[in-house]
Amino acid sequence: MNPRISDWRGLRVWVIGASSGIGAETARALLGRGAKLALSARNKDGLLTVAAFHYDALILPLDITDHAGVIAARDRILASWGGIDLVLLVAGTYHRMRADDFDLAVAERMMDTNLRGPLNCLDAVLPMLLSQGKGGIGIVASIAGLSGLPNALIYGPTKAALINLCESLYLDLRPRGIGVYLIDPGFVETPLTAGNEFKMPALITASAAANELLRGIERGEFHIHFPKRFTNWLRLLRLLPYRWYFWLIHKATGL
Ligand SMILES: NC(=O)c1ccc[n+]([C@@H]2O[C@H](COP(=O)([O-])OP(=O)(O)OC[C@H]3O[C@@H](n4cnc5c(N)ncnc54)[C@H](OP(=O)(O)O)[C@@H]3O)[C@@H](O)[C@H]2O)c1
Repeated sequence: MNPRISDWRGLRVWVIGASSGIGAETARALLGRGAKLALSARNKDGLLTVAAFHYDALILPLDITDHAGVIAARDRILASWGGIDLVLLVAGTYHRMRADDFDLAVAERMMDTNLRGPLNCLDAVLPMLLSQGKGGIGIVASIAGLSGLPNALIYGPTKAALINLCESLYLDLRPRGIGVYLIDPGFVETPLTAGNEFKMPALITASAAANELLRGIERGEFHIHFPKRFTNWLRLLRLLPYRWYFWLIHKATGL
């Protein structure tokens, strides 16, 4: 559904959310495969650790909720590289929330990072991708965005919005020569899930997640989801009538 990538050497990739977890491991894997990297997130030390001895990597700390900061980072990349082959938008945040502990301030912070942030990034890169007429953009949503789940009261809707956004982007951008990748991880062992007190089914390491993500892009897939032994169950559940879906989710989670 997207162009395949057989050789990462020399490809110019901007990873946003590269200081820890899935983004950090994806950046490390890309550096190992010879790609040219620009690394962004708020924590500059984290980015420097990921870049390690790759002194030509561009370290561009930013907060994705800060539009001007995102635009400035994009300008620095274009001044150095002249273009970007792939933008990977990995940054995101999670706060457990249910109806009985709804907190508007926390909800708005999740909306800012998970939804307004990606829109800031789109504003920064879409005109460039469209004028290049090539390249790609991958957005990390979550399998939790497929359908409503307990503990994901606002996180789920932010990720559902990203899934819908990627579908629309694909329709608009693919005919213009630009790849769009929707990335839906299941449970991955990262700082984001470290606080989860329940046993996470089919939990995988961040490095395994990065490999799945890159394999999906190499194969030109649109919907990159992993681990399939978990994500395929949720994809199937989503097709059921709501009566059955809600019963099975109650049964499976005890919530
Ligand atoms: N772990 C899972 O089980 C799982 C499952 C499904 C989807 N996901 C999604 O995968 C993505 C990566 O999560 P992760 O699990 O790897 O968690 P993580 O280790 O906490 O990584 C989150 C990344 O996003 C960056 N970030 C957060 N807020 C930011 C902001 N305002 N501006 C710029 N960068 C920001 C963080 O860097 P700084 O703090 O340095 O800014 C960090 O690099 C997220 O979108 C998450 O929703 C994770």
